[in-house]
Amino acid sequence: MRRGIAAVIAFLALAAVSGFLLGQQRAAAQQHVDVEKKARLSEFMDRKLEDAQALLAGLARHDLEATAAAADRLGLVCVDLSWNVLQTDEYLERSTTFRRTIATLASAARDGKLERAQLAWLDLAGQCFSCHEYVRDRK
Ligand code: HEC
Repeated sequence: MRRGIAAVIAFLALAAVSGFLLGQQRAAAQQHVDVEKKARLSEFMDRKLEDAQALLAGLARHDLEATAAAADRLGLVCVDLSWNVLQTDEYLERSTTFRRTIATLASAARDGKLERAQLAWLDLAGQCFSCHEYVRDRK
């Protein structure tokens, strides 16, 4: 009888320990996924910054070909799924406006309209700041 009780206790203890270990393993795996996701998002956003900097450089140097190429790259960044950080109407609307401004900038650059492209860039830079403000407020 006593042996039976000891066996049950041993079994329960084992079950508790393995449950705990399994839970820990799962938490560690989730954390790993979160870290990876964050790193990917950060890399993605850095690419956006690089393209935006190349845009400014192209405009500052009056190199409209480089400007148009950078605008095209930036436009592609926005259609990547990683862009959809928030699933709200406003985020979607801001993203659409952002993409439209990039398209305006690209076509101005292709048409050789430097001033129009520069104005579109100013508009675009304002959208960087205001969307980040919006995202920060939502968190
Ligand atoms: C429609 C919204 C939106 C627009 C417009 C936008 N961004 Fe972002 N940006 C985001 C979101 C969302 C994040 C991720 C924020 C986070 O991780 O909490 C981000 C993050 C970033 C980061 C990384 C910040 C960090 O803390 O590491 C950089 C750099 C960046 N954006 C640059 C730009 C530039 C440059 C522009 C304009 C050319 C721009 N973004 C326009 C939404 C936007």
